[in-house]
This record gives sequence, C-alpha cells and structure tokens, in this order.
Amino acid sequence: MPNLSQLLTSKSSAEYRRVFELCRDISSELDSVDGVYVVGGIVRDLILDRTPGDIDLSVVGNAKTFSQELASRIGAATPDESQFLTFKIRTSGIFSDVSSIDVVTARAESYADSAALPDVSVSSIDDDLKRRDFTVNAMAISLAGSDWGTLVDPKNGFGDVMRKRIKVLHDASFVDDPTRIFRAVRYAVRLGFNLDSRTNELISKSLPNIDRLSGTRVRNEFELVLSEPNRVEMLRMSEEIGLLAAISPGLRIGTKALQVLSDQSEQEVASTELPDLLAITTFGLNEDESKQVVQRFDAPPAWGESITGNAQLAKHVAVLDQPNLAPSEVSDLLRAIPLASISAYILAGPPLPRRDKLVEYVEKIRFIKPEITGDDLLEIGIPQGPIIGQLIDIVRRAKLDGKVSTKQEEIDLAKSRLPGFLTK
Ligand code: CTP
Repeated sequence: MPNLSQLLTSKSSAEYRRVFELCRDISSELDSVDGVYVVGGIVRDLILDRTPGDIDLSVVGNAKTFSQELASRIGAATPDESQFLTFKIRTSGIFSDVSSIDVVTARAESYADSAALPDVSVSSIDDDLKRRDFTVNAMAISLAGSDWGTLVDPKNGFGDVMRKRIKVLHDASFVDDPTRIFRAVRYAVRLGFNLDSRTNELISKSLPNIDRLSGTRVRNEFELVLSEPNRVEMLRMSEEIGLLAAISPGLRIGTKALQVLSDQSEQEVASTELPDLLAITTFGLNEDESKQVVQRFDAPPAWGESITGNAQLAKHVAVLDQPNLAPSEVSDLLRAIPLASISAYILAGPPLPRRDKLVEYVEKIRFIKPEITGDDLLEIGIPQGPIIGQLIDIVRRAKLDGKVSTKQEEIDLAKSRLPGFLTK
C-alpha cells in the first residue's frame, strides 16, 4: 500500500496536522485502541489537493475513550455521543478550519430493509470502508505510529480518483441507502467527475427507492444540493437523471430558472438564502404540483411558503398589467405573497408591465408605513380593539396613494373615519 505521510504533513494545514499528530500520540498510549484512521471525504480531498472539510476519524477499538482524550488535549468539551457508536468533538472557537471532528467506531453495517437505518456491528477498518457509498470515499490513512501514512484502499478509490470516476462499492448501494443518489450527483458535479456507467445504470433502477425515504431525509439532501456553489449544474443533472421527478412527479426545474440561477452565480449576485433558492427552483410549478412537493418534503412553514408562493402569485399577477393601478391596490395584491416568490417572478417571469410593478413593490411600496401607531390612536381617545388596526390600515392605504403626508393628516384621517357611535 502506498504511504501518504506526505499528505498528512506537508499538504495539510497546521490545524489538521495538529489533530493527526495528537491521534498518533493518543493511539500509542491507549491499550484499548488498535488503530486510528482519517477516513472518507477528507482523504479524497487531500489526494485531490482540495481544501478538506471537517475531520472524520475511524477508531478500531474504544472510540469513546479515544474521542474523550482527543477532545481534552484540544481543549474541547466532552464529545457528544450519537447513534452508531459515533462521537462528535466540537472545535469551532478552537480551530478556524475545522468546526468538528467525528470519531466513529470502525464498524460493519447491514441493511434489513431498503432506506432503513442500518444494523451496526463493531469491526475492522476494511469492513468500515466497505460499508461506504463510493470508492473515492472508501479510503483511510493510518494515523498510528509505525503505520503512519499508510493508505487503506480495499476498493481502489485511489484509481477512481485518478480516473475521475464516482463508482459505488456494490450493486445494492442505492437500494440500501437511496440518499446516495443525491450524494452521487453532488460529488460528480463538485469534483468534476463522471458517474461510472454501472453506477449510472444502478441509479436509474433505484430511483423508485427515493419514495421510501422520509420527507425530512429527502429535504435534507435537497437542501445540501441547494447550498453547494455548483447548485445549477447539480439541479440540471438531477433533472436529467430523473431525480427531481423521483422526489415528486411535478418537481422539475425549467430552463428559465436554471438560466437565472446560472446568470446570478456568474455575476456573483446569487442569493444563497434558502427561501430565494427554493422559490426559483420551483418556479413554474402549478398549485397542485407545489402542494405535492411541500407534502413530499414534509416541509416546515418557511419551505412551504417559498414553494407555494409562486403559484399563489401566478394566479393574480396578470392584474398588475392594468395601467393606473394605485399603489394601495398593488400592495393589497402582493402583501400576502412571500417576498422570495415575488423576487423569483421578477427574475424568471415574462417581461410584461407587471414586472415593473413587482419591482416597485419590492423596492418602494412595501416599505411605506404610516407614521401613527396604535398608541397615537389610543392617546387621542380611540378605544382599544380591532378598530385600531382597521384605522391604521386605512391610513396606510391613504399614505401609499399620496392622500396624506404628515402625521397630523394621518391622525385627522383616522378621526374622520371613526364610526359615529365612537365619536360621541
Ligand atoms: N457515507 C456513506 N453513505 C452515506 C453518507 C456517508 O457511505 N449515505 C460515508 C462516506 O464514506 C463519507 C463519510 O461517510 O465520505 C462521511 O460522510 P459525509 O461527511 O457526508 O461525507 P464527506 O465525503 O466527508 O462529505 P463532504 O465532502 O460532502 O463534506
């Protein structure tokens, strides 16, 4: 096996190096630890000379004691223990490049049912690598004394990094865990790799298994795609391979929406706010399609609004083409529509007069508010109750249409609209 100690020392930043060296020291001191490896994406990234993400370690032996010792030497809090014999050391505030270190117990996994969470048993580093998603993620580098730098690569991930190829370890990989289809898309685009032909075939066959994932798991994977800098290419690929339709039959991304996202990232003005990205991604879906998507994602309210807001706006937006609409009428029409959907329409909708009205609403109309508050109205003797809100709304609309400009005019208008029985 090749020795990659060079990558651990000269190619890693000081923080990574410090962690690797501490791992070597601790593993030589603890009898309950037989091996410590840096594993997964970080190995792939070190080989590719890309900036790696957080650190994943695999411990053959007692990962709990190991992670506690590592945390204490770094000055971090006691690691959080989670499912599957895994321990998370939080390092933000201590390190700048690394926000956490995940320490797993080297383990084998088996899947009783497609898309279920796996059954886990403690095992060797080879088994730990063979349970993983893709060959390029199934490599480890030893951090233990005499073995320091040795690459463990039972599935020839190194060869696939050289060939720029995303390849599953076995034919049932996407059946065991259909979230790996999203991962395949993300890695292929992010690294500029191709999907190996058998892997591609397996993806096509496994798409129906996406149905077996919970809404939360699909939503998390979709959000990870949206949060990547190369989201445009990832969405395009997801559309091409049928992944979007496998999430929900009506989910698709139109060429206009892709164009908008791509122009924005070229001009470096891309919003990375999730509501904006969701609204553009789902632009053009009709009401039923967007409701189905919301249901499929088991979407929290913020997601739901951004996805259904487009269809809500599309229902009424043609009214904005009418000339001589008063600003208060524009506001009435748009106040309940999420801002993300309005912005998406401005970017991806047709270049009709409505677009100017939408821009005017976003840039100006929505900020126009009366100067008076409920307290001002209470002060002049108007009794508490729904009437206060109604009067403020009348004043707000008058202000929008330029019928009042000073605070006194606002108060006078409110008073003039008081129902007769309240003025006595
Ligand atoms: N993994 C897997 N199957 C999954 C999720 C993760 O086999 N469904 C394995 C892969 O070996 C992966 C490792 O667990 O490399 C860590 O997962 P994650 O942090 O999601 O992957 P990285 O490759 O480290 O992530 P990234 O480069 O995207 O930050």
